[in-house]
Amino acid sequence: MASPTQTKSDSGAEKYADINWDELGFDLVPADYMYVTKCDKEENFTTEVGNIIPYANIAISPFAGILNYGQGLLEGLKAYRRDDGRVLLFRPEQNAQRMQIGAERLCMPSPSIEHFVEAVKQTVLANKHWVPPPGKGSLYVRPLLIGSGPVLSLVTAPEISFLIYACPVGNYHKVYKAIAQAKARGFSDVLFLDAVTKKYIEEVSSCNIFIVKGNVISTPAICGTILPGITRKSIIEIALGFGYQVEERVIPLVDLFDVDEVFCTGTAVVVSPVASITYGDKRIEYKTGAETVSKKLYDMLTGIQTGRIEDKMGWTVEID
Ligand SMILES: Cc1ncc(COP(=O)(O)O)c(C=O)c1O
Repeated sequence: MASPTQTKSDSGAEKYADINWDELGFDLVPADYMYVTKCDKEENFTTEVGNIIPYANIAISPFAGILNYGQGLLEGLKAYRRDDGRVLLFRPEQNAQRMQIGAERLCMPSPSIEHFVEAVKQTVLANKHWVPPPGKGSLYVRPLLIGSGPVLSLVTAPEISFLIYACPVGNYHKVYKAIAQAKARGFSDVLFLDAVTKKYIEEVSSCNIFIVKGNVISTPAICGTILPGITRKSIIEIALGFGYQVEERVIPLVDLFDVDEVFCTGTAVVVSPVASITYGDKRIEYKTGAETVSKKLYDMLTGIQTGRIEDKMGWTVEID
């Protein structure tokens, strides 16, 4: 393993990368180190061969399975810094499981759950100085599994690569709110309908969607076309814990015309209120702000993720 930059100063205080943390947005600022390992298509990944190396471009054959047939998948999760400086991951084993399900579908070997979580931990530890100070954002971690070996026909690539790299990101929620305040200027995202009948809502471009009516919170059921978001799953459990009724069901588009709140969930957007939805010439506005269900859920989720609220669910994993 290459020697990561020291993360403690001589005084023992946490050392941070030299950037303006107050201006952290969603621009790509690659963290210094990445994890790389490869395996033969007939083999399984093993922890022994994985390496932390300086972040750099990768060399790949133009015939690589990923370039020609899209044989690959990505995951995304975040590392958060607690007020006391310690660093937490949120449910990384869920990302590992989801990678395994996708890899099986794409006929690729995948790392074990233990390997995945260990590799994520190593990557975050090597880049610890890139985990933003508390309240300033988080370190977005991107595990990638690709058919990196060359193929001519549609078969599994002879070599599969597993990489993990990272980038500090600001508080997306803050951005969303600003957009909500300036909503008259345009739309911020797209809500996709089912491809067959175009009558039912599915998900937003990179997040899942929930609607709230009274005490009932509903979200489209997972049926093969919607990503089973880990934030979605966590919000369902938190909402049930608060005493809300949660429904995973087919949601007709027309239901959007008669609800109190709409919000989105995902690693990047966390829990983001939707101020309005426009369909054709019909525009519907929803409740946002302090006294909303989505704010209550956001506070609980981020409280657990950042260690400010006790994690009774056992969802956080500490990096040391
Ligand atoms: C299409 C799509 N839906 C939903 C999500 C939310 O998933 P998660 O909560 O696991 O980040 C994502 C995240 O990248 C996504 O790309």
